[in-house]
Amino acid sequence: MNLEPLFQQTFHSASTVHASSPGRVNLIGEHTDYNEGLVLPTPIPQRCEMLFSPRADDRVEIHSVQMQTRAGYALGAEIADHTWLDYVQAITQELQRAGHNLRGFNAVVSSDVPLGSGLSSSASFLVTIAKGLRKLFDLEITDVQIAQLAQAAENGLVGARVGLMDQMACSLGKAGEALLIDFRTLEYRSIKLPETMELVILHSGLTHSLAGHEAGTRNYKTRRLECERACELLGVASLRDLELADLERVAALPAPFAGRARHVITENARVLETVAALEAGDLQRVGELFYTSHVSMSADYDVSEPEIDLIVQIAGRTAGIYGARLTGGGFGGSVVMIADKSQGRVAGEAVMLEYAQTTGQSPRLLSPAV
Ligand code: GLA
Repeated sequence: MNLEPLFQQTFHSASTVHASSPGRVNLIGEHTDYNEGLVLPTPIPQRCEMLFSPRADDRVEIHSVQMQTRAGYALGAEIADHTWLDYVQAITQELQRAGHNLRGFNAVVSSDVPLGSGLSSSASFLVTIAKGLRKLFDLEITDVQIAQLAQAAENGLVGARVGLMDQMACSLGKAGEALLIDFRTLEYRSIKLPETMELVILHSGLTHSLAGHEAGTRNYKTRRLECERACELLGVASLRDLELADLERVAALPAPFAGRARHVITENARVLETVAALEAGDLQRVGELFYTSHVSMSADYDVSEPEIDLIVQIAGRTAGIYGARLTGGGFGGSVVMIADKSQGRVAGEAVMLEYAQTTGQSPRLLSPAV
C-alpha cells in the first residue's frame, strides 16, 4: 500500500523514512518463551507499514489507516489511555528510558496483520515504530535491542505481560526461514523451510487479548502464574531446568500444575524434533509433531477453544495437510497447518469452508496470501 499520498494529505509535507515489519506465525514452541524455552516462529506475508518525518517540536502525531483517526501526545508525557495510541506511547517511553534522544515526529501507519489473531499485530506495530525512529534519529540500536524494547513497551505502558518471542520474530525474521530461539541464552539460528512445504494459516474468527488481568480466569497471565507456581512446587528456578526424564516427578503435582509443566517440558523437546524433521525434509513427521503439540496445548495447557479444536480436527481429515495446531497465545486466534506445496490453497479453503459452515464463524485464510 502506498501511504505517501495519505501522509502528504495529513501532514502537508513529504515523509522522509519508511519502516515495515511482518507479523509472525509460530510453527511450534508455544508458551515456552517466558519459561526460558525454545520457539520456532517465521514471518507471515501480512505486515505493518509506516512513514515518518521529523517535527520541529516534541509532539508525536500519528494517523492510523485502520483506526481511521489521528492522535498525538507530547514526548515525555506518555500516559496510557487504553487506545491504540498506547503502543506508540509505550515504545517512545521505553526508547527515552533507554537513553535514546528522540524528537517529535509525524507518522502514518497501516497494517494488514489482523488484530487479536495470534499473529503478532502488536509486536509488528511496536517493532515498526522502533525501526522507523532508529532511521529517523540515527539511533544506535540493534535488531535484538529493538525486540527487547518492544517487549518492555508491551509489559510496561500497554500492560500485557508477554514474552519476547513475537518481538524477536518481527524484528529479525526472514521470509522462507524460521527462527529457532533459545530464551535461556537468547541464542538464535535460522532454519530454512523446505520448498516442498506450504504454510496454511487460518484465523478462526475468534479474537483474543493478552492483556486479561483477572486472576483465576482462563487467560495468558494466569498461565504464567501457574508456571511460576509449578516451579516453586518442583523446586526449580525455571521449567527449562526439567527434561523428559523428569515427567514422572511432574505428574505427581496437583492439577493444574502437572499439565502446565508437562506441556512446557514436552513442547521444548518437540521444537528440537521439528527442527530435525524440517532439516530432513520430513513433512510427515513435522505434521505429527504439530498434532501432538496441539493436543498438549488443548489438554495440558488449556489455551484452546472448541472452535480451534474443530479446525485442527477438520485439518486432520483433509487431503494434502500434514499437521495443524493452534499458534500464538491461544484463547482464540489462528491455526497453522503444514501442507504440500501444490495443495496448500485448496486444502486451506476446504478446511475454512467446513469450519465456517459448522460453526457460523467468519474465518479468514491468511496464507497462502490472497
Ligand atoms: C503470545 C506472547 C508470546 C508467547 C506466545 C505463546 O504470542 O506474546 O510471548 O508467550 O503468546 O507462545
